[in-house]
Amino acid sequence: MDQSPALPDLGSSFVLPNGVRLKNRLIKAAMSEQLGDRRHDPGSGMENLYRQWAQGGIGLSISGNIMVDRNAIGELRNVVLDAHSDLNAFRRWALAGSSHGTHLWAQLNHPGKQIIKLLCDEPVAPSAISLGSGLEKHFNCPRALTEDGIEKIIAQFATSARLAKVVGFTGVQIHAAHGYLINQFLSPLHNQRSDQWGGSLANRMRFLVRVYKAIRSVVGDAFPVGIKLNSADFMRGGFTEEESLQVVVALGNLGLDQLEISGGTYESPVMVGNQAASTREREAYFLNYAARVREVSTLPLVVTGGFRSGAAMTAALRDAATDFIGLARPLALEPDMPVKLLSEATYRVDLRPLSTGFAALDRIATLDVSWYEHQLQRMARHQLPKPGLSEWLSLGKTLLDFAACARKKRSTQCSTYKR
Ligand SMILES: Cc1cc2nc3c(=O)[nH]c(=O)nc-3n(C[C@H](O)[C@H](O)[C@H](O)COP(=O)(O)O)c2cc1C
Repeated sequence: MDQSPALPDLGSSFVLPNGVRLKNRLIKAAMSEQLGDRRHDPGSGMENLYRQWAQGGIGLSISGNIMVDRNAIGELRNVVLDAHSDLNAFRRWALAGSSHGTHLWAQLNHPGKQIIKLLCDEPVAPSAISLGSGLEKHFNCPRALTEDGIEKIIAQFATSARLAKVVGFTGVQIHAAHGYLINQFLSPLHNQRSDQWGGSLANRMRFLVRVYKAIRSVVGDAFPVGIKLNSADFMRGGFTEEESLQVVVALGNLGLDQLEISGGTYESPVMVGNQAASTREREAYFLNYAARVREVSTLPLVVTGGFRSGAAMTAALRDAATDFIGLARPLALEPDMPVKLLSEATYRVDLRPLSTGFAALDRIATLDVSWYEHQLQRMARHQLPKPGLSEWLSLGKTLLDFAACARKKRSTQCSTYKR
């Protein structure tokens, strides 16, 4: 891999193993935008939003999760890419997001059982096991997928990837992290199947490997395919760091172009913080795990979660702890942070902790995510992000969304759709 100069900095370009060049080391990690219209096509706000990130100097923008199955959407206004999508709306989004030499990859996802009750009566999962940690009150118990159902979802991932290439995305990322369907297959806690899809780690990773191979077969070798993987689920009995490392080794043999590491699930949402003090000092949450990945893999690596200062980002690159810096929340408040970082290496952004003062409420409303989604929606409307946005106002908007979910559920019952 040609990675110049010898000691990389944030502005150094990077050539992926398949020859695709990314102009710098800064990546906008996926953030669900909630900007889909009633048909789950991207609205014009999506173009506005991604144009701002492209103008802001990011090397690679990874879209918020795009659903592969319109009968399984994780959030009310998720975008879906399938045979029924308005491809011209996706083309306009891809064009805006890939301006200024920016790469724009589509993150493809299936939520499995991580769909709130208000959106779905009977979600699907590897096994008929409810989410725990109190979430069982808000998420229905899933139905175990049949063999045919599994094959159908693999084909849906491939269809979405093929269409992503057709409409002008420059790569795709498979979402295998954060407790969604692929992660549910990887987890021994959530996958208790006794067939070829469960049991041993080789069986539990079969779904991910099949999704990857199906996508690769339709997009070809020159089109970048990445995977976002959990370092661990941070759940007793869940997917562990040791198992995650074995998955990394297996993926390294399959021609994957990039690996992004994160961690946690809805049950244990460490992807947005709450880490040990030793990790906080280096800002990024998953650097210890990244060091272990480096011992077993040469895959181009993205570490996402916690980076806030140019100093910590540059140190991570120079220590070869990672090849790329993944940034999410900072870019929801400062879309031009990359330009600032590239001209001033010590630039940093400080994000204030969010709370209504009622921890249970914050958790149900996923305040750490929904507050930032509201910032993205402001940018989509050509408004500036608002760091002082009240948590209560954000909560109010989220409650309105829940009410809209309930209305949608009454009109379209996803449970009537059987695989
Ligand atoms: C509003 C919001 C939406 C998110 N949506 C996604 C998503 O669609 N897919 C995904 O892989 N991660 C998603 N994440 C997680 C981020 O990609 C990232 O892993 C996490 O925020 C930690 O990075 P940060 O500290 O730079 O924010 C989301 C985070 C936020 C704040």
